[in-house]
Amino acid sequence: SGHSAGVPGAGEASGTGGATGAVSVTSLIADPDRPADVRVELVAREGTVEVPGGRSIEGYTVNGTSPGPEIRAEQGDLVEVEFVNESVADGATLHWHGIDVPNAADGVAGITQDAVPVGGRHVYRFVAEDAGTYWYHSHQVSHVQVERGLLGAIVIEPAATSGPSGDAASRDVTALLHVYGGQHTLNGRVADERVEAEPGETVRVRVINTDQGTASVWSAEPFRVVATDGHDVNRPSDVEGQRLLIPAGGRADVSVRAPAAGHVVRLHVGGARSMVIGDASAPEASAPPVRQPKETLDLLAYGAPTPLSFDASAPDRSYDYVIARRFGIIDGRPGNFWTINGRMFPDVPMFDVTEGDVVVMHLRNDSGDVHPMHLHGHHVVVLSRDGVAASGSPWVVDSLDVHPGESYDIAFVADNPGIWSDHCHTLPHAVDGLIAHVMYE
Ligand code: C2O
Ligand code: CU
Repeated sequence: SGHSAGVPGAGEASGTGGATGAVSVTSLIADPDRPADVRVELVAREGTVEVPGGRSIEGYTVNGTSPGPEIRAEQGDLVEVEFVNESVADGATLHWHGIDVPNAADGVAGITQDAVPVGGRHVYRFVAEDAGTYWYHSHQVSHVQVERGLLGAIVIEPAATSGPSGDAASRDVTALLHVYGGQHTLNGRVADERVEAEPGETVRVRVINTDQGTASVWSAEPFRVVATDGHDVNRPSDVEGQRLLIPAGGRADVSVRAPAAGHVVRLHVGGARSMVIGDASAPEASAPPVRQPKETLDLLAYGAPTPLSFDASAPDRSYDYVIARRFGIIDGRPGNFWTINGRMFPDVPMFDVTEGDVVVMHLRNDSGDVHPMHLHGHHVVVLSRDGVAASGSPWVVDSLDVHPGESYDIAFVADNPGIWSDHCHTLPHAVDGLIAHVMYE
C-alpha cells in the first residue's frame, strides 16, 4: 500500500498486508505460525472485588483482582493472551485499548467476535508494534463490566535497541486510576503510593484513566508529559502551575525528577490520590498536598513541532462527526440520548474508507456535555481545535475529550483494515447512541 504508520516515532511496520494492497484474511490476524514472546492467561470472574483500604464491591476480577495483572511486553513481541470466562454471566471479551491490533483481536463483542460465554475461552494474538502505555478491558456490556473492574494495564516497553523513548527514566511505574463504588483508587487501592527513587533520578509515571470521566494530574514541582496515549511527545518542556487533564480511557506518561535526600515529590493523580516519589525514609508530610491549579496544560501547543509522516492538508476522505443531544423515550426509558450526524447507533452509517487513505474527521460537539471520543485500531493526530492549528509536538491520541461547543479536526492513516468502533468512552453515553464505525478491507 506504500503508507507507513501515521506519525514520527510510531512503529513503521504495520503488519497489515502485502505490497499489492490487496486484502487477505491474514491481514486481520497476527501470523498464526509465529510463536508467542509473551504468553498470559487471564481468567475473568464475577463476584466480590476486594478494594484494599476501602470496602469491597460486587463486580469483576481478572486472575482474582481488579485491576487484573499488568502485562509487560517489549516492542515487537508477539503477545498471546488466553482469555477464560469462568463466571461472567453476560459473557465477556478483552479489548486492547489504544493498541493497533489486527481487527480479529480487537475484542468487540458483536463486531469482531462473540462474547465469550461462561466456561469458554478465546485466544488473542497481536504484535506489539508501538511502545507505550495501554490498557485492556471487556467490551461486552462495557458500561457495567468496565465500571466494575474487568480491566488491567498493558505496557509495551521500547525495544532495547530502539534508544530512549522520551526522557530516559530509570524507574517506570504505573498509576492506574479507577473508581469502585464511589471509592477513588490508585492501582486498585484506596491509598497513596510511595515510589522509592534516588535524588535526581527520573521516574516515569504511566497514568491510566480507566474511569468514566476526566482525570487530572498536578504537582507543586515541575513535571513533564513525555507521552500521550502511548505516543512520545517531541521535546516536552516543564509544566509548572498547570494541571494535565486525561480523558476517560486516555493515558499520559509523566516524568518527575526525584528531589534531594530526605525529600519527596507529590504527584497528584486523579484528584483524590497521589504518587509520593523520592527518599524512602523521608516523611510523606514533607510534600503536603497542594490545591489543583485552575489552568490546564494545552496539549495542542505542548512540545516541539516535527513533521507528520503523511500530508493531512489533502486528505483522501473527510467526514463530519457532529454530536448532539436528543431527548427521547427508547424501550420505555425516557432520557437523553446522543446522536452522530443526527443518527443513533446502530443507525449511524459506516464511515467508509479505503486502505491507505489519509482520513480527516471534523468533530463537533453540539450536545452540551463532554464526550471522550475513542477510535479503535488507529492512532489519531489532532490537527486543530476551534480553527486554531496545532503548534506543538504532534498530539497523538486514541481518546480525546471534546467539550461542549468545541470542534476538532483530527487525522489518521487507514493502515489497519477491518471494522473499528469510534465511540464515546463515557460508556453509558455509548449505550445511549454514541457509537459509530469505520470500515474498510
Ligand atoms: Cu476502551 Cu471501545 O473501548
Ligand atoms: Cu459521551
